[in-house]
Amino acid sequence: MHSGELGRQGLYGRRRDCDQLERMLAEIRMGRSQVLVLRGDAGIGKTALLDHMARHASGCRVSRVTGVESEMELAFAGLHQLCAPFLDRLDRLPPPQRDALSMVFGLLEGNAPDRFFIGLAVLSLLSDAAEERPLVCLVDDAQWLDQASAQTLAFVARRLLAESVALVFATRESGDDQALRQLPELRVRGLNDVDARAVLQAALRSPLDPAVLNGIVAEARGNPLALLELPRGRTPAQLAFGFELPSAMPLASRVEQEFLRQLHPLPVETRRLLLLAAVEPLGDVILLREAATRLGLASDAATPAEARSD
Ligand SMILES: Nc1ncnc2c1ncn2[C@@H]1O[C@H](COP(=O)(O)OP(=O)(O)O)[C@@H](O)[C@H]1O
Ligand SMILES: [Mg+2]
Repeated sequence: MHSGELGRQGLYGRRRDCDQLERMLAEIRMGRSQVLVLRGDAGIGKTALLDHMARHASGCRVSRVTGVESEMELAFAGLHQLCAPFLDRLDRLPPPQRDALSMVFGLLEGNAPDRFFIGLAVLSLLSDAAEERPLVCLVDDAQWLDQASAQTLAFVARRLLAESVALVFATRESGDDQALRQLPELRVRGLNDVDARAVLQAALRSPLDPAVLNGIVAEARGNPLALLELPRGRTPAQLAFGFELPSAMPLASRVEQEFLRQLHPLPVETRRLLLLAAVEPLGDVILLREAATRLGLASDAATPAEARSD
């Protein structure tokens, strides 16, 4: 696919990344497990890539979980989300693993189970489910997974072998997720300018002033969310003609400064007359003269200004 063209899935500039994810699906269909951490800034398109993978996982079972910031302190909250659909298989696990996981999820009373057993139990559970159909586990916003879940899933990821399981995480660039740092990674980078323009143009209904377009593309630095959000705060006139844009500001304020510099040396009466002229919209000289008289401005107040109009 050429740059700037819309991919099959409505994503611009992600052909290579999508290909990699689709190859992973082909691999697990052949019984070779796959692990990947998508890492990138907020808004760069990680969730969009997970969506792409889910859409292409025909014939597979897809289990999605999302780290939730408010649940970061709840041990195993994320793991519970991921395993919930498979808990009917618990009885198929070796008893120590079954009991360990049952205790973690509050299905069985007992002391805090051994972390190693918990990890093995999750590995067994997912492998067992994958024997029926290839299994795709998508863990979004992994930067907000509780630590116990992140560590357990990383443990599982390192031990997957000949199982039909794909385990794909999406996490923030700056995520403090040591557990995932050792796993294979795909950096999700900003779009190039051609693709960024295409995203911007596809999202807009009204025409865009070329200078404004360039400004937004530069400001967004290839981040699709920024490309979609930046035009929002601007009026159609601003987008079409570039009025009052930050990029136009320096020029506008330079002009303004120049006028102020010229006005400064003029007498107060002259400046007041100029102000009056500026707020009179029609250029009606008779009206202006009448208003000046009412304000008590001398009839020759305009002279100093006329003398300077070079
Ligand atoms: N390659 C792309 N082309 C067009 N739109 C995209 C692309 N990648 C992401 N988007 C859109 O940009 C926004 C942010 O993407 P998202 O996947 O939510 O980012 P992240 O999960 O990394 O924070 C979403 O509205 C998404 O649909
Ligand atoms: Mg996301």
